Amino acid sequence: MSIRFAVIGCGGITRFHFPGLTQAGAQITWVADLDEDLARARAEEYGARHTTDYQEILASGEVDAVLVATSGPTHKPICLAAIEAGLHVICEKTLADNSDDALEITRAAQAKGIILYTSYMKRFIPAVQRAQALMPRLGKIFSTYIRSYQPWGSIWDPPPTSRPGNEESGFRQRYGGGILHMGGSHMLDLVGFFLGRPKRVYGKLHTPEWLDYEVLASALLETDNGVVHFEAAGHPLRRIGFLRDGWDEGFEINGTQGRLEFYSSTWDNVDSKACLLRHYDNESGDMTEYRYEPTSPFARADAFFVANMEQGVQGEQPITTGYDVDELIAHLHRSAETGEALEVDWRI
Ligand SMILES: NC(=O)c1ccc[n+]([C@@H]2O[C@H](COP(=O)([O-])OP(=O)(O)OC[C@H]3O[C@@H](n4cnc5c(N)ncnc54)[C@H](O)[C@@H]3O)[C@@H](O)[C@H]2O)c1
Repeated sequence: MSIRFAVIGCGGITRFHFPGLTQAGAQITWVADLDEDLARARAEEYGARHTTDYQEILASGEVDAVLVATSGPTHKPICLAAIEAGLHVICEKTLADNSDDALEITRAAQAKGIILYTSYMKRFIPAVQRAQALMPRLGKIFSTYIRSYQPWGSIWDPPPTSRPGNEESGFRQRYGGGILHMGGSHMLDLVGFFLGRPKRVYGKLHTPEWLDYEVLASALLETDNGVVHFEAAGHPLRRIGFLRDGWDEGFEINGTQGRLEFYSSTWDNVDSKACLLRHYDNESGDMTEYRYEPTSPFARADAFFVANMEQGVQGEQPITTGYDVDELIAHLHRSAETGEALEVDWRI
């Protein structure tokens, strides 16, 4: 029998998840959004019931799992309530907007035996999965460069009229923070995916005085697989990146026997623009290029999550995935404040 899902929050990102969940064979029985018109429209499209109050869904007994796709700061109460109701959870990234909340959600899921995924869908890009399969051919990994440069226009320029103090931004309300919560979180997730949990972090941030979120985050991360040079930025450069569209995100992993180079396409174009992977093999001297048809990693992620939920298993993606990223973001902020490198205090 197909698993019954509620989609909570029907904004921009769910244009990928509605088809993703249905293609995965899930039955969408409920949708919720504070905007009732939006909820109703989605409900009609997918033959579901709708509400503006997600608690109604949790009390209905008509769902087995929820996809939480609301704005970042609301993830915690919704995830905790769904877990308490005994429902499996897929939560959009970042899991929470601070590491204490992410820890609380993860511990609650563990205590209840709930399957919990944070939807870091870049793990599911075919070129990323091929890169993971090629990792054993790199020999000993000694250095990684990883970055997310997102084109944010004139963000580095002061606003036309200078304002006293920080401007309250919709960014924090929508995403929980600045560039680290945006593209940076995906790259921190890929660090864990490829190299394991970092042990030590040194970070530096730049927050323009007219904003309340960082636009640049740089870090050195020490792992068991060498040092990672990490950077995330919202930048004004229009034509950089391998597709020359201003999006410049990817990684380079160097080992004693080879190197992987990965370039991603814009997150909302991943189903129309292909990513690129190159593998250099030191023994043969060959550089192999892997190009794939554009495909939605959201749909691939949802297929993986739904299949595991049907079998009642967490599977290969650890329950701590979302917590790990939020803990790294917290350490990076603390390191930037103190100017010191920090041992990462993994609390779970
Ligand atoms: N994986 C990615 O690359 C990626 C990209 C963009 C956004 N996201 C994440 O997806 C999530 C949603 O982002 P978005 O761009 O779709 O935002 P959005 O603002 O377009 O949509 C959020 C929706 O949630 C609804 N909502 C808020 N609180 C609610 C509540 N208590 N109950 C019901 N509905 C509620 C809002 O009315 C809104 O329609 C965020 O966590 C964001 O970080 C991920």
